[in-house]
Amino acid sequence: MTAIIRETQPIEGQKPGTSGLRKKTPVFMQPGYLENFVQAIFNAIGGARGKTFVLGGDGRYFNDRAAQVILKIASANGAARVIVGQGAILSTPAASHLIRLHQTDGGIILSASHNPGGAEEDFGVKFNTPNGGPAPESVTQAIYDETTCLREYAICDTDDLDLTRIGETRIGDMVVQVVDPVADYAALMEKLFDFDKLRALFSGGFRMRFDAMNAVTGPYATEILERRLGAAPGTVVHGTPLPDFGGMHPDPNPVWAKALMDEMFGPDAPDFGAASDGDGDRNMVVGRGIYVSPSDSLAVLAANAHLAPGYQGGLKGVARSMPTSAAVDRVANALGLPCYETPTGWKFFGNLLDDARVTLCGEESFGTGSDHVREKDGLWAVLLWLNILAERKESVEQILSEHWREHGRNYYSRHDYEALPVADAERVMGALRDRLAALPATEVQGMTVASADDFSYMDPVDGSVSKGQGLRVVFTDGSRLVLRLSGTGTEGATLRLYVERYVPGPEGLADDVQSALAPVIAAAEDLSEIRAITGRNAPDVIT
Ligand code: G1P
Ligand code: ZN
Repeated sequence: MTAIIRETQPIEGQKPGTSGLRKKTPVFMQPGYLENFVQAIFNAIGGARGKTFVLGGDGRYFNDRAAQVILKIASANGAARVIVGQGAILSTPAASHLIRLHQTDGGIILSASHNPGGAEEDFGVKFNTPNGGPAPESVTQAIYDETTCLREYAICDTDDLDLTRIGETRIGDMVVQVVDPVADYAALMEKLFDFDKLRALFSGGFRMRFDAMNAVTGPYATEILERRLGAAPGTVVHGTPLPDFGGMHPDPNPVWAKALMDEMFGPDAPDFGAASDGDGDRNMVVGRGIYVSPSDSLAVLAANAHLAPGYQGGLKGVARSMPTSAAVDRVANALGLPCYETPTGWKFFGNLLDDARVTLCGEESFGTGSDHVREKDGLWAVLLWLNILAERKESVEQILSEHWREHGRNYYSRHDYEALPVADAERVMGALRDRLAALPATEVQGMTVASADDFSYMDPVDGSVSKGQGLRVVFTDGSRLVLRLSGTGTEGATLRLYVERYVPGPEGLADDVQSALAPVIAAAEDLSEIRAITGRNAPDVIT
């Protein structure tokens, strides 16, 4: 085995977005593309010599080959050890846990999350730091800077390793430790939740459906829900991770997890339904005949987390991304907890979690998590819901209705306009940005603007500032609209419009969501002219 130095050229566009570098798979498979990016990661963190990393991915097309390349580059760069999930598989939260458990120097996760997988679909590579969380902007910027001046990378010229067998092998001096991808994660879940109570719930006839969407959570959900908790066989559907996710779009929302929605709203629906995304960090939760929006889910979890053993002592605080609804703020207020508002992307929660300022965090994009890892965690959210259901002995519908009666309801929706020409999307953003300063005190659709700005965040732990994180217009009645560009897409630009309206109750808590939001949606059109500028009549996806 010899480490060789290969000459290379900087490759344009290797700029990590909201969550790592995501590109079409054929782009990643171009000679040198992956190699350059991985070498840039190692250069940006001061080299790999003597270090230990975690490696795994969501099993999508190219996952296996990419893992082999990364191992060869890690060895040639002098890494001491790489802990790899068997078959190069690890869910994102499981990878985060392993990074922390073994106190490694970070990890590389292969995933494009909820984006479709396959030879012509999406692939992604993300670096997580030693705290187990996605690299902060300072690190992703350093990685990007390296990609712009890279002239060579080091790689071992050796055969591929067998990653299907648990145990240790080597590439040169580097130990490759192949581990069961599920075992440590499942043990962590056993510590946080009352598995006896959950077993009793299932043996008492509680029925559940978990749609793993042919993606990475299948083995985790089958082991935990069916084997350890005794949920009926067949509780987990689409449970085998497939390279193309069986053609599914592994994004757990009402649009892409339609079969689950239909079942939960159909006759003889199970008590509880859930789905997870490509790499297992997202979750959607549905009750019998009732959908739980991710923002509401975060609020309910915050209000009830103390019912699970891992959170018995209560929460230190909560955090949500700016576009996420303020439902959790109301819970924080009622409980006297600090509540933080961060830019979009899990990386902004890392410092708050590390500094023990918050216990729970969440995003409107089907992401919820806690300080047990440094990623959002789909199955964790599902287990916390189950633990709450087991303790309260009420249905999802009852819990949600009671929550709204107590705290009021934040009607909320996100409208996505996908694959727009970049210039059109920027015109929409530019048009609204230009009007922001003049908006306060003006009236739109019968509502008065209280404030309007381009969200800027100062991290309270390290003082770093992130500007341009989304345009927001807040009205005097608490209604709000937010407009931002997606940072995870691989085709054109995606505009996200987030709309919210607060109803204190007791009247009007069970209205149709889109109707309840109609004035805010109309105000968004008036102010940004999305439809006029893009020529689109309607959003592509409404969640
Ligand atoms: C999207 C979500 C964001 C999430 C990210 C990674 O990013 O909106 O909340 O953290 O995916 O899962 P976006 O495409 O909006 O930049
Ligand atoms: Zn994901």
